[in-house]
Amino acid sequence: SPYKVVVCRNLGPDVMPLLENRHEFELVVWPEDRACDRTWLLENIPGATGVIVMLTDKVNTELLDKAGPSLRVVSTMSVGYEHIDLKAAAQRALKVGYTPDVLTDAVADLSVMLALMAGRNGGIGAALVQKGEWSNFSWAPFGFCGPQLSTTATSPTRKIGFLGFGRIAQATLARLVPFGITHCLYSSSPSSPPNLQRDAELAKKYNLKAVTKVDLDELARESDVLFVLAPGGPGTYHVVNDDLLRKMKKTSIIVNASRGTLVDSDALAKALKEGWVWGAGLDVVEGEPNVTRDHPLVKEPRCVIVPHIASATLETRKDMATRAAHNLIAAILGGDMPAEVDLSAFY
Ligand code: GLV
Ligand code: GLV
Repeated sequence: SPYKVVVCRNLGPDVMPLLENRHEFELVVWPEDRACDRTWLLENIPGATGVIVMLTDKVNTELLDKAGPSLRVVSTMSVGYEHIDLKAAAQRALKVGYTPDVLTDAVADLSVMLALMAGRNGGIGAALVQKGEWSNFSWAPFGFCGPQLSTTATSPTRKIGFLGFGRIAQATLARLVPFGITHCLYSSSPSSPPNLQRDAELAKKYNLKAVTKVDLDELARESDVLFVLAPGGPGTYHVVNDDLLRKMKKTSIIVNASRGTLVDSDALAKALKEGWVWGAGLDVVEGEPNVTRDHPLVKEPRCVIVPHIASATLETRKDMATRAAHNLIAAILGGDMPAEVDLSAFY
């Protein structure tokens, strides 16, 4: 009898046939064009061999227990897996698939966009014009001025900080080289030693004064733009907090295109209000999508927020969906999964 496969979101006409054309599968697909209802998922998961989830679907013991012993694979259409209880997955000997690499460039592009928008009042400016208010703000010598991302003859140093220094952070660094940046600082898991040789090679390749692993204190004090690009999860909860924000430069920009849980929203709103930092560009906010007009960050004019769209390009989302399908197919029918989450730490 066929393997039951639950798909939490329609993956579109280019990708669904990869699954539909497999006679080995009996597909159960969430029929609506919004995040899958929890009750629907819990009702349909029993007896499934595989499930394709989105980052909006919580994969916890409740869901895995409902699925039962038939379940072999959880394939998420995301690079992040904060929504998946990896320990519970390992205890059940499940395979977990995810979609790294294919979205690196799209997320790096958007990270640069957020840095520019936050620094240059892109959000405020566009909103004013949209409301028909340009006539109240004619060109002024110092109107709408913000800190410049690129270096200038009179401001020749730019230190870019990364909280997390994986694929996406390094792709973001590459994009900033033509802006004339001079230093790259990063902070990553305390357990991973600095990679001195790699860092020296990066500095040489990009003609930077230095690429240096630093502690959070130095990262906060030195960064002109701080990109938060680390995986979420308990180890990084609220690492951007009151303490860190107080140490930052008053002209600094914070960008978060990873997970909302890394940033304490109340502390960031306070930092913006009190001028500890200049601006923020956020693709993710803790508690999303429940971010309404009275959210403290939405009320801060210097905070540009977009609704978790860092990987949202036509090209990349198709590649991510394809990869999610191939991860599931390989896990059930055999062959190497294109990208499997390493669960060895849990065994
Ligand atoms: C997006 O946030 C992802 O994890 O792919
Ligand atoms: C600006 O538009 C300028 O001409 O300097």
